Amino acid sequence: MEKRLVSSLRTESLFKPLQLKSLSLKNRIVMAPMTRNFSPEGVPDENVASYYRRRAEAEVGLILSEGTVIDRPASRNRPAIPFFHGDDSLAGWKRVIDGVHAAGGKMGPQIWHVGAISSGATEWAPDAPFESPSAVYSPGKPHGVAMTDEDIADAIAAYGRAAGAAKRLGFDTVEIHGAHGYLIDQFFWAGTNVRNDRFGGATLKQRVTFAAEVIKSVRAAVGEDFPVILRISQWKLQDYNARLAETPDAMRDWLGPLVEAGADALHCSQRRFWDAEFPDLDGKDGLNFAGWAKKLTGAVTISVGSVGLSGDFLNAFKGERSRPASLDNLIQRLERNEFDLIAVGRALLNDARWAIKIRDGDHADLKDFTSAAFRDLR
Ligand SMILES: Cc1cc2nc3c(=O)[nH]c(=O)nc-3n(C[C@H](O)[C@H](O)[C@H](O)COP(=O)(O)O)c2cc1C
Repeated sequence: MEKRLVSSLRTESLFKPLQLKSLSLKNRIVMAPMTRNFSPEGVPDENVASYYRRRAEAEVGLILSEGTVIDRPASRNRPAIPFFHGDDSLAGWKRVIDGVHAAGGKMGPQIWHVGAISSGATEWAPDAPFESPSAVYSPGKPHGVAMTDEDIADAIAAYGRAAGAAKRLGFDTVEIHGAHGYLIDQFFWAGTNVRNDRFGGATLKQRVTFAAEVIKSVRAAVGEDFPVILRISQWKLQDYNARLAETPDAMRDWLGPLVEAGADALHCSQRRFWDAEFPDLDGKDGLNFAGWAKKLTGAVTISVGSVGLSGDFLNAFKGERSRPASLDNLIQRLERNEFDLIAVGRALLNDARWAIKIRDGDHADLKDFTSAAFRDLR
């Protein structure tokens, strides 16, 4: 018999409420944003609405939607990624949030623009060319077109419109996708931003300008009391080992201005939540990315990465099977307030009832994760 995955007495730190501006969360479990590709023509349908509702019915504290894109001609890279603009798509999202609320849940859409990343999985391409700060996919690899001043201004306004629509439809928060090598991250990264206008620059502090303006535009659209989350990562799809900030000082230069611009929470994406961000400074069990982001900025932070599973999500894309794994390390970190919330990706994609099983100590029912889970909205 395997050791218990977590002692049931010790899940209190996972099931403690949290208040973030107008958002009251009943617990610390967040469904991570996961692109599902089930919204043909960009419109989320009843199946998508029920998929999210099932998570709300089963104790997920906050649901973040799959990436859903702003109103720019080439903001998505697959044909069934949902839009967050246009009457039909927004009506679809209204069904989603109404269903989640009816089940007692809370939710925010993840607002996205793919930048110069075309999908590796399909030949499909949008009508307009992919756009990015400097027309490269990764350092030295040309792709698509560089954004003009007008394109940039329009994109910033489109993020704001999407956030305003989220609030209008009744969502509880909004997350801006600034991670994983997509558009906003391409502005952060020196290798993909070689602009010599005010959106570029030799230092990270200079290259945060685009993101800061996006956040200000979002803030102007949603008002002071509506929580705005920003997702960020060191790693990129283009280069898993890339790092924007090699030191805490560099991280402060990166994240400080974004919190000042209006981000209330930082969602710090890493593949394994237990990996120390700067092990040379505080050891291999030291603070993770969300831990450092919280310490340096004072913002609420969300951690993520292989919660409850033995293998990470990039290996899952390659077909690796993961088994349920202990939550003890996670609980210890939550107990010492290293970060505030924990996002759970695949475990919740695979099993809508994962959170309730953890709460009730129903460990025998936890499932292995295999790539079959990507194929449907279970
Ligand atoms: C199928 C799938 C789709 C994903 N799509 C997104 C996305 O749209 N936006 C995003 O920020 N992260 C996305 N991710 C990353 C997850 O949010 C999460 O950070 C990652 O899966 C690690 O968490 P896990 O180990 O609990 O699965 C995706 C991951 C998976 C497995």
